[in-house]
Amino acid sequence: MSFYVTTPIYYVNAVPHLGHAYSTIAADILARHHRQRGEDVFFLTGTDEHGEPVVQAAEREGVTPKELADRNSRRFEELMPRIDASNDFFIRTTDPRHVAKVQEVLQRIYDNGHVYSGTYEGWYCPACADFKTDVEVGPDNSCPVHKAPLDWHKEENWFFRLSAFQERLEAHYAQQPDFVMPRTRFNEAISFIRGGLQDVSLSRSQLTWGVPVPWDQSQVFYVWFDALLNYYTALSFARPGEDLTEQFWPASLHLIGKDILKFHTVFWPAMLMAADLPLPQRVFVHGFLLMDGEKMSKSLGNVLDPFEVMERFGTDALRYYCAREVNFGQDGSVSTAGFEARYEGELANEYGNLASRTLAMVARYRDSVVPDGEPDPTIAAEFDGLAERVCELLDRAELTAALDEIWQRIRRLNRFVEERAPWKLAKDPSSGDELDITLYTLIEGIRVVTVLLHPYLPETSKKLLSALGREGLDLADARLGAGAGGATVTPGDPLFPKT
Ligand code: ME8
Ligand code: MG
Repeated sequence: MSFYVTTPIYYVNAVPHLGHAYSTIAADILARHHRQRGEDVFFLTGTDEHGEPVVQAAEREGVTPKELADRNSRRFEELMPRIDASNDFFIRTTDPRHVAKVQEVLQRIYDNGHVYSGTYEGWYCPACADFKTDVEVGPDNSCPVHKAPLDWHKEENWFFRLSAFQERLEAHYAQQPDFVMPRTRFNEAISFIRGGLQDVSLSRSQLTWGVPVPWDQSQVFYVWFDALLNYYTALSFARPGEDLTEQFWPASLHLIGKDILKFHTVFWPAMLMAADLPLPQRVFVHGFLLMDGEKMSKSLGNVLDPFEVMERFGTDALRYYCAREVNFGQDGSVSTAGFEARYEGELANEYGNLASRTLAMVARYRDSVVPDGEPDPTIAAEFDGLAERVCELLDRAELTAALDEIWQRIRRLNRFVEERAPWKLAKDPSSGDELDITLYTLIEGIRVVTVLLHPYLPETSKKLLSALGREGLDLADARLGAGAGGATVTPGDPLFPKT
């Protein structure tokens, strides 16, 4: 079984912010989860380096587009280990192997008769690198995303016959009700298609920073056509000496933000149809992280620096917050105060404390050896089916709901400690068996939630499982009672120290 997940490839006209970290963390959670299921996983992220915004930003900074791309792409590449992203490859669209493959695929689309030359006239947003259709133009001919004036553009270029794919796209949506998720985004995509598709510019003249059109060297491909193809081209060169296309194409899941829905749910499937290539299985569209009610974005300048957050709270805390605070798929506000409340109240007090007090009790009352025993039947029943439920939710990329299922068990274990009061049981020699059952249940419960939390908290989970003396991450073992007693525990520092 293979699982191929992608993030958008990020523009290099600026440096990474929390929005980029957000999409990548989400994809990483799914990649790690599928590895725990024993699947062959390929996880791709990278940078989108051509196009007008890069040329303009480079001009402002007095460097060449390539210099700017190199510098900022490195910042994105460095972000990945910093957020503990386990991506298998980092693609750059300036990679000559990508360029060659883009030319090959687009030449095939041309040979298949889906391209013609024409004149384009319309409103264009340089920051979106997008020609706006009538309904997409904001007040006073502005861009609704960037709140900046649109430019009126007229030029001769190559067109992709998008209109010819209307029926096939509609049929595909009818057959694949989960092609785009969540459902509201599916509806948005299908209504865009039903509204009537116009042909789109495939190339640009007057621009040299892009992939040259093989049949017309005076033009370069419009950056979106070059960028979308990254998901496909990367497989042919990501692993030296191997071509992974057979194994991983079509992609299992493209994870994107709602700003780029049209490109991924309309243009991209049409392009693949035009090139006779299989379509991705699913596209999941997440919402925006907001600060002060506006989308965080480099063009608006209202960004939360993920590096500062990680510096203070740690990488796992950032990952946790991203999955926890905003119901994945919807828009939601983030704030420093929000971080602090979740860190303190949930990570430190609920999870961290549960772990440290349990480990301390096993050390004190049982000489650091986990007692043998059957799990408490009430707790066992409440853990029954948990791993299956988490899998089911993550199969639909419901990161927040799956995390909530796990977290409810952490809260249940905390109540169990209070109910049983092991410190009282320890004083009464006739309660030895009950104390064994209590400690065994707690250790097993913590182990199970920690295995399930691994995709969210990779570093913490490894640290804690090692303190529990049981390091296995297999989802098959995420069952209360699957671990035998007898392991030696080693209590360590608090998992989430006071900052
Ligand atoms: O659009 N909240 O790149 P980009 C949540 N190169 N996610 C956010 C966000 C926010 N406030 N801000 C950004 C491009 N993102 C193209 C993509 S793909 C073939 C080409 C995330 O640098 C979100 O995933 O503008 C969004 O879709 C993406 O960054 C846009 O990144
Ligand atoms: Mg953008």
